[in-house]
Amino acid sequence: MASKLMHAVQYDSYGGGPSGLKHVEVPVPIPKTNEVLIKLEATSINPVDWKIQSGLLRPLLPRKFPFIPCTDVSGEVVEVGPQVNDFKVGDKVITKLTNPYAGGLAEFAVVAESSTAARPSEVSAAEAASLPVAGQTARDVLTQVGGVKFDGTGEPKNILVTAASGGVGVFVVQLAKLGNNHVTATCGARNIDLIKSLGADEVLDYKTPEGASLKSPSGRKYDVVIHCTAGIPWSVFEPNLSENGVVADITPGPRSMWTFAVKKLTFSKKQWVPFLLTPTREGLEHLGQLVKDGKLKTIIDSKFPLSKAEDAWAKSIDGHATGKIIVEQ
Ligand SMILES: NC(=O)c1ccc[n+]([C@@H]2O[C@H](COP(=O)([O-])OP(=O)(O)OC[C@H]3O[C@@H](n4cnc5c(N)ncnc54)[C@H](OP(=O)(O)O)[C@@H]3O)[C@@H](O)[C@H]2O)c1
Repeated sequence: MASKLMHAVQYDSYGGGPSGLKHVEVPVPIPKTNEVLIKLEATSINPVDWKIQSGLLRPLLPRKFPFIPCTDVSGEVVEVGPQVNDFKVGDKVITKLTNPYAGGLAEFAVVAESSTAARPSEVSAAEAASLPVAGQTARDVLTQVGGVKFDGTGEPKNILVTAASGGVGVFVVQLAKLGNNHVTATCGARNIDLIKSLGADEVLDYKTPEGASLKSPSGRKYDVVIHCTAGIPWSVFEPNLSENGVVADITPGPRSMWTFAVKKLTFSKKQWVPFLLTPTREGLEHLGQLVKDGKLKTIIDSKFPLSKAEDAWAKSIDGHATGKIIVEQ
């Protein structure tokens, strides 16, 4: 019997940017024993998606070509594998597909039920698709490196968030404030009002000399920095840190690993910590609940139909999104 076909967007080799994306008809995937088949409603793009296409993680990712990119999706369960217990046909869900196999720029995708969370009816598909990588990175770096407690029971800290207007940064600002911390943020001039409206106590325009110095306008020293952009060296952070201040770097490259090693080996009280997300169902459930309760807002930069996925891809590569870029199926 011929398998049912779906529209998907894939690439066949490294490189090529938006013009490397091809619109194709491919078979709808079949869920394995413990997987669900989701009819996708929204997918969000993360910078790692086009970094994988550029070959940054070769030869590890993608596992094979052709490759349908993007991992952060939400939609409706339309079929379940025989051993799926937690979901049934018709359930609305949020999930993160796996990086080696991805599959988000398509009409349907399969994923293990263990990495899937129920989507509250109050949370839209686009809001839900904003959460898997960006939201969980913000949540987990704040708790795991920053020691932040979102119920506000932790000791208040001075937190700096760089690139606060990006997909991750908008969540870091809000979650840091939920934890009752003082937040200083950097972003471009056009986003200052938005970042203040999300709760930041002080905001620096990163293109001014004051912004580039990262100095807190109120003279605070930072206990925690959530560093969401690249290219700012340790020497700029160091004078702005408190005695035991820590910089959590979410874009770790070779220079970042070097700084981490040097600070460790010299027993520096001020530390540099590279951070990589390990997504969980629990993290997705927590974030979905916060959005449902009105405690966390998603910021959507723009929405594109699947037929224009290459425009969404180009927008993300451009690096000037405010919040998340969404593709709708
Ligand atoms: N480690 C992990 O597990 C993990 C997880 C998620 C993301 N990441 C990485 O984290 C980085 C950020 O991700 P994202 O999704 O937030 O990216 P994004 O949405 O593409 O970030 C774009 C935003 O960053 C702002 N920006 C750029 N350079 C800046 C600077 N020097 N100072 C202040 N703001 C600046 C831009 O503002 P303007 O438009 O005003 O320039 C824009 O609003 C990416 O490199 C991504 O790959 C890592």
